[in-house]
Amino acid sequence: MCCCSTSLDGWRSPNRHPKTNPGYPNPEHSGGLFITIEGIEGSGKTTLARLIGEYLTKAGRKVVITAEPGGSAVGDAVREIVLHCEEAMSDRAELLLFEAARAQHVDTVIRPALEAGSVLICDRFTDSSLAYQGYARGLDLGEVASLNTYATSGLVPDIAILLDLPAEAGLARQRKIDRISSRDIAFHESVRQGFLALAQSEPDRFVVIDATQDIDSVLNEALTGIGHFLVPGS
Ligand SMILES: Nc1ncnc2c1ncn2[C@@H]1O[C@H](COP(=O)(O)OP(=O)(O)OP(=O)(O)O)[C@@H](O)[C@H]1O
Ligand SMILES: [Mg+2]
Repeated sequence: MCCCSTSLDGWRSPNRHPKTNPGYPNPEHSGGLFITIEGIEGSGKTTLARLIGEYLTKAGRKVVITAEPGGSAVGDAVREIVLHCEEAMSDRAELLLFEAARAQHVDTVIRPALEAGSVLICDRFTDSSLAYQGYARGLDLGEVASLNTYATSGLVPDIAILLDLPAEAGLARQRKIDRISSRDIAFHESVRQGFLALAQSEPDRFVVIDATQDIDSVLNEALTGIGHFLVPGS
């Protein structure tokens, strides 16, 4: 389907980012690579996760694709509450529910896959909490970051791919509407600006892609970005 020129042959994961994450080094991934895909609703996260997964599988890698909130029975239950609850939910309750689902997801899916040497692609992760509950809802960023660290036991993605596009364009692509996605354009635009601020503060960990491009171009840029995080040979 695509015509990617990126070669990922003979690479291994750098496993950690001492520069950006000095206090919480990732555990040894035994060759695993932790990629997250972030962005506003309709930015193409699920589509890109699938395409990267297909590409890396063809390149001979073990790949696990998963998504937040979800990826476990606890996560699925939390997804139902967070996305479809009809009662007005406090911002702190919303954050804690996402973090509870994340803790279960990390322990039962993400760490085991990384320790088994897989490329783990996660559709949304900790940066979504910072962008949505921190930047857009206005909760204290330091507190959100602390809860992220607690929920993940300090696990930080090797690479966060940020799909950036105007909120209006993302919402126009969307097919499913839920409690969070149905917020107004201004809310989604602040989420977008939050993601961009995060990417600017951690340029070593983020790959920012213009998601208004066609999907083949987005995939090509993502694979090039992943290649930059990889150390040749091992
Ligand atoms: N680069 C692109 N150009 C045009 N359409 C795209 C592109 N990427 C994805 N799409 C289409 O946009 C729609 C939304 O994509 P997708 O479901 O991957 O987004 P998402 O970020 O996962 O959305 P959500 O936040 O709702 O889960 C789908 O119909 C998909 O085929
Ligand atoms: Mg999706």
